[in-house]
Amino acid sequence: MSSTAPVTVTVTGAAGKIAYSLLFRLASGLVYGPDTPVRLRLLDIPSAVTAAEGVAMEIEDCALPLVDSIEITDDATAAFDGANAAFLVGAMPRGKGMERSDLLSANGAIFRDQGRSINAGAADDIRVVVVGNPANTNAYIAHRHAPDVPAGRFTALMRLDHNRALSQLATRLGAPVAELDGVVVWGNHSATQFPDVSYTTRAGEPVTAGLGRDWLADTFIPRVANRGSEIIAVRGSSSAASAAGAAVDQMRDWVHGTPGESWTTVALPSDGQYGTVPGVVTGLPCRSHGGEWEVVEGLEIDDFQRARIDASVAELISERDAVHALGLTD
Ligand code: NAD
Ligand code: LMR
Repeated sequence: MSSTAPVTVTVTGAAGKIAYSLLFRLASGLVYGPDTPVRLRLLDIPSAVTAAEGVAMEIEDCALPLVDSIEITDDATAAFDGANAAFLVGAMPRGKGMERSDLLSANGAIFRDQGRSINAGAADDIRVVVVGNPANTNAYIAHRHAPDVPAGRFTALMRLDHNRALSQLATRLGAPVAELDGVVVWGNHSATQFPDVSYTTRAGEPVTAGLGRDWLADTFIPRVANRGSEIIAVRGSSSAASAAGAAVDQMRDWVHGTPGESWTTVALPSDGQYGTVPGVVTGLPCRSHGGEWEVVEGLEIDDFQRARIDASVAELISERDAVHALGLTD
């Protein structure tokens, strides 16, 4: 029997592949827990509304006790009105041979308009996870069009990169993922990202020295950074269930907190920490306490890390400048 007030959750791209995994996890209580009902708002474009209705029918057919209501709409204003959480998934995905930069112009306008709708009508505690690519810059665009919403309420999904890094490392070490802590993926959700295990421990003991710089530079970093492309090449379409799982992880930790001193990776508007650029949505080590993300401060950065972080931040700056040139931000 549920006991707390329902949470209103908007999912855009509701007829798409990621949403098909994400919505059922939300409806099962994986973000808000077993006592909190969810009011699901499904937003998609007019031509996809019928398919979104089919997804809603399937959610109904699961007879899930936490589903308070399901609304389907092609109207962003209605979709975000009173929303406590928004998963901005809806966008054109990257196909074979496409670079993420090709998506900037195609998807940027979507996030400008949705930022405006969130600013106009979302609840005061709105939490936004941008999944649609290029996720960091789309989150940047949305937050720039929501001046009444605190910047820290706009995040982009880099938990998938974080989870990929954890999994690759666990395999290399023959360690359970649960024993690993202190991974961070700096920068952009793109091939320039820097998955960094400099601070990583296994059951409290440092692991980095035993991994070898060659393995880290030549195998681990490119494998994690190019995993999205590898999935597209092997699977024939971009990651879906793993992306949905990571989006759930990110929102759950945001709402419920990260344990103790542990951190995770979140892309959020930087305050300039670690030589990143203020305002730009950047992957950083973050803890969640009291329902807010806090960037972990004071980690030492060596020359190798500095060069990698700077390269990814440079790409984010070029994306920021490109969307400005396209008229998508002031
Ligand atoms: P998909 O093509 O299966 O679904 C996208 C859906 O978005 C479609 O139903 C489409 O109609 C809808 N849509 C398009 N424009 C919209 C708008 N203006 N408002 C609402 N809905 C709209 O794609 P998918 O596989 O679900 O991927 C969605 C996005 O997520 C892509 O941009 C993809 O590149 C990205 N992605 C990000 C990550 C990450 O880690 N950040 C991982 C995987 C995929
Ligand atoms: C992923 O990381 O799987 C997605 O962002 C797909 C992509 O376009 O790289």
